[in-house]
Amino acid sequence: MLTFQFSPFPELVTDRLALRQLRISDAVEMLYLRSHPGLMRYIPRPLSRTVEEAVELIERYQGYLDRSEGINWAITEKGKDVLIGAVGFVHFEPENHRGEVGYLLHDAFHGKGIMTEALQAVLDYGFHTLKLHSVGAVIDPENTASEKVLQKLDFVKEAHFRESGLYEGRWLDSYVYSLLTPLK
Ligand SMILES: CC(C)(COP(=O)(O)OP(=O)(O)OC[C@H]1O[C@@H](n2cnc3c(N)ncnc32)[C@H](O)[C@@H]1OP(=O)(O)O)[C@@H](O)C(=O)NCCC(=O)NCCS
Repeated sequence: MLTFQFSPFPELVTDRLALRQLRISDAVEMLYLRSHPGLMRYIPRPLSRTVEEAVELIERYQGYLDRSEGINWAITEKGKDVLIGAVGFVHFEPENHRGEVGYLLHDAFHGKGIMTEALQAVLDYGFHTLKLHSVGAVIDPENTASEKVLQKLDFVKEAHFRESGLYEGRWLDSYVYSLLTPLK
């Protein structure tokens, strides 16, 4: 069984990005992401409507972090500190040395390889520091951009679950992608 501890918070740095802990003061930027119907199209979660709801979301992420159930980073451009997206392990299966990733990026920054760069840093941390053996991602089959990010990082499609989720009266298919540790 793996055990995780995230104190001090592990900040990550890439060529263009600084990944830091989420703060309550990110609520306005978080609200933009979580209230945007286009960005949330393939994420079966209720849209946030107010800054208070975004604050609650950030507090919920903080709770997952405190209990080592998940870890999410705020994505910022180096030297700017403004949240432009979020990426992280939405949950772990410590008994299986496995984590599941999730991510979301402001639309003004799409198509520049930013999520690929951020997720690569998160995967490096997951495999090298947390010692995960595998990382999974569950996506909507129509979410081509998300699928492309996973494929660029060598994830392999392992499953297509048909109508396995029910959200707001619609049956949802999902693809499960996974990546095994590069460490042997
Ligand atoms: C998925 C997401 C994070 C990708 O972020 P990004 O920084 O734009 O990703 P990248 O630039 O690293 O790579 C995206 C790739 O998909 C391609 N792409 C984007 N939209 C596409 C589309 N509609 N059809 C085909 N390819 C598409 C891009 O061209 C790019 O490929 P390339 O590097 O070969 O040019 C972003 O689109 C997003 O936040 N979407 C909304 C939230 C979401 O769906 N999250 C995932 C939930 S599982």
